[in-house]
Amino acid sequence: MSEKKLWAGRFTEPTDDFVEAFTASVEFDQRLAPYDVQGSIAHAKMLARQGIISQRERDSIIQGLEKILARIDAGEFRWSVALEDVHMNIEAALTKDIGIAGKKLHTGRSRNDQVATDVRLWLRAELVEIGTAIRRLQLALLDLAEREADTILPGFTHLQTAQPITFGHHMLAWFEMLERDDERMRDCAGRVNVMPLGAAALAGTTYPVDRHYTAELLAFDRPAENSLDAVSDRDFAIEFAAAASILMMHLSRMSEELILWSSAQFQFITLADSFCTGSSIMPQKKNPDVPELIRGKSGRIFGHLIALLTLMKSQPLAYNKDNQEDKEPLFDTADNLRGSLKVFADMLLTLQCNREAMRQAALKGFATATDLADYLVSKGLPFRDAHEVVGKAVVYCVERDCDLSDLSLDKLAGFSNVIEDDVFECLTLEGSVAARNHIGGTAPSQVRAAVMRARARLA
Ligand code: ARG
Repeated sequence: MSEKKLWAGRFTEPTDDFVEAFTASVEFDQRLAPYDVQGSIAHAKMLARQGIISQRERDSIIQGLEKILARIDAGEFRWSVALEDVHMNIEAALTKDIGIAGKKLHTGRSRNDQVATDVRLWLRAELVEIGTAIRRLQLALLDLAEREADTILPGFTHLQTAQPITFGHHMLAWFEMLERDDERMRDCAGRVNVMPLGAAALAGTTYPVDRHYTAELLAFDRPAENSLDAVSDRDFAIEFAAAASILMMHLSRMSEELILWSSAQFQFITLADSFCTGSSIMPQKKNPDVPELIRGKSGRIFGHLIALLTLMKSQPLAYNKDNQEDKEPLFDTADNLRGSLKVFADMLLTLQCNREAMRQAALKGFATATDLADYLVSKGLPFRDAHEVVGKAVVYCVERDCDLSDLSLDKLAGFSNVIEDDVFECLTLEGSVAARNHIGGTAPSQVRAAVMRARARLA
């Protein structure tokens, strides 16, 4: 216990050493320093404008805080665990530097509204970065979709060959997932951007504060309506963790596909060496560590969501110390989310498609069976009958280990007499994908049009 506590007035005994370390948050919340200073400067300006402190005191506080922040940035600030958290470390340093005026900064404010404000300012800035990272990944997907608009691979359901699709179309599916993720983040940002300051400890403050002015200075949309809610609400944090979890779930699914596709059994794609690692024992190995790690990181992000939900569950109004536990999951979520988005986009820029391997795979597994059924329907058969006819033809091919397109016209006509020699067109991979020619379909021309619409949306 080296420093005098800022709240020591009513205490007669010092804090237990272990309790001091146990309750301190400065080791992790010092990251909030720039936002703490930003919030304090706005608060000081408001106090002076309302005549609660003098103009000179305001100027001295602002200069003092700016110097402290410069010291923090330069790594020259000595953080003290005895001073518990980022807020009291900065306030104590300010008072040490500028004297009495420093002690006036906390007028009409509590650490409860202060920390809630800091976290919102921090998250608001993070959301901007995350939005930029999502966009960057989306642009990489659009480039790939355009480049591989004609590349055909088997589309799967139940991981069994279903119908031929284009690689570009697959990339656009990923794009859409991220589009919704971006919407969720933006939606969350609207609820983050509400200002707790002025709520003070829980009930508001007796000083003639102007919360609208402070909110304007900090570019918040508005002051929070209710002081009890303002200091205790962490649903904005839970919402962010939920949106981050869904985004990580998406990145995990995409990673899983990259891992499968880069395996010796698929060989659909090649990941650049710079995104893979080797094995210390098996010389032949080239492991897709980056997508595997992203897939794995989804676990910790989901964990943070559950941690935050559990942290809030059953908390009575208003502020409780439990809330100090919100920071580490939040910081870790933002850091890993940004990192995953960045590295995934970097990796996609180097991704090579092995078009021939994809094509060969699409030729196996009767990917065009539905096209044959649709052909029979176009010749007047009811769909259920057509389905039955094609099923019979597939069994015939399975027994002979060949594809539908390997059968002669005579053989095919043996399954249904409506089959003529125009059937072969619908049995080709190109014919199959080109026929799905409507908005949202896999036809190359639709992929190109979708890329154009998506680019216009992003612009
Ligand atoms: N370090 C605290 C937190 O992160 C700041 C608020 C403390 N307020 C209090 N009344 N003890 O939540």
